Amino acid sequence: MIDIAKNIATAPRRTKASVIRELLKITTKPGVISFAGGLPDPQHFPYEFVAESVKEIMAKKGRVALQYGPTDGLPELKEEFVKFLKKHENIDAKSENLIVTTASQQALDMVGRLFIDASDPVLVEMPSYMGGLQVFKSYGADFIGVRLEDDGVDTAHLERQLQWLRSQDEHYKFVYLVPDFQNPSGVTLSGEKRKKVIELSEKYNVVIVEDSPYRQIRFEGEAPKMLYRLDKETNNTDNVISLFTFSKTFAPGLRLGVILAHPQIIKKLEILKQSLDLCTSSLSQLIAADFLRTGFFEKHIEVVKNTYRLKKDTMVAALEKYMPEGVTWTKPEGGLFLWVRLPEGMSADDMFQEALKENVAYVIGSAFHCDGSGRNTMRLNFSYPAPADIEEGIKRLATAVKKRLVAK
Ligand SMILES: Cc1ncc(COP(=O)(O)O)c(C=O)c1O
Repeated sequence: MIDIAKNIATAPRRTKASVIRELLKITTKPGVISFAGGLPDPQHFPYEFVAESVKEIMAKKGRVALQYGPTDGLPELKEEFVKFLKKHENIDAKSENLIVTTASQQALDMVGRLFIDASDPVLVEMPSYMGGLQVFKSYGADFIGVRLEDDGVDTAHLERQLQWLRSQDEHYKFVYLVPDFQNPSGVTLSGEKRKKVIELSEKYNVVIVEDSPYRQIRFEGEAPKMLYRLDKETNNTDNVISLFTFSKTFAPGLRLGVILAHPQIIKKLEILKQSLDLCTSSLSQLIAADFLRTGFFEKHIEVVKNTYRLKKDTMVAALEKYMPEGVTWTKPEGGLFLWVRLPEGMSADDMFQEALKENVAYVIGSAFHCDGSGRNTMRLNFSYPAPADIEEGIKRLATAVKKRLVAK
């Protein structure tokens, strides 16, 4: 056989297997309670709604549903999404501001293709979404890490990094943020810091990529404005590109998302998407258009929020009950994840196998850090496991932590 390694192009050579996907293989072992995945709870997928919707679509729009569609998306979905943005975010968008994507992971790939040349600096939160890091890396991004605090990205640090890049005459590309119930940490960027981020984007002439799959899953508190909206209200400069997905509010199996941006950017993305998949599934788009048009979205999101709130509360209560002194965790107001910090000097990476022996799994926090730091941290998912398993799993995790503390 030919030596494939020699022939493989630069981008796939740069792409390493995602640590999460590798870990997930181990954690599906029978008996293991896994907090490692990031899956929505399948118990609450809207099965009946989808069945009814497909039946109706086939009767009335079968030829559209089973046909190729326009690369930028079907008008049926775009129209509904424009209304959604107005109703839920008070954003005035037009069809030319939108491109439908095969969910957010494709959107991230398109953004990477659009902006990144090898060695271009891209600013990312530490920690940040691993799937974003993986795709930007494949295009050769040089990551500039920005510290994350309990109220979102450290804006003073962000400014120092931008200043430094500017002083080096670096052609920095964009700042990648997951501002709402961040994956992996669960933290949300505060309203005050959002204003600062928008100010910095204007001052340093840098695009902000706002990736927000969890925004609609808020259990408590008030939602700060989307960065896209703030930018419009403050600068009217179109410095923000916002990524939406139906994966967490509806079902990831639809593989459906939307990018909101300036029409010029949308045009460029459309050309890129032509070579990726021609178009996103027409059937998925029509189902999602129904989901929004009929108001089922509003009903369904309440079920999702109530379920995840209960699970988050169960996890936080179990952490409080079982974890020893010195271990801390975030208390997210929404989303699917929380973030645990072990005492400084203790390694969640090293503890992983010991936790597996206790039949519990998590994702090591260092995998989300572009510089490999954060070894004393871990991400826990609460949306997927059943409440009883959450309590038992945290008990097991605490046992692993206590054993390690004693051994130290
Ligand atoms: C921050 C973030 N962005 C993007 C994605 C990709 O999601 P999807 O491609 O299903 O829309 C995820 C998935 O977990 C995520 O957490």
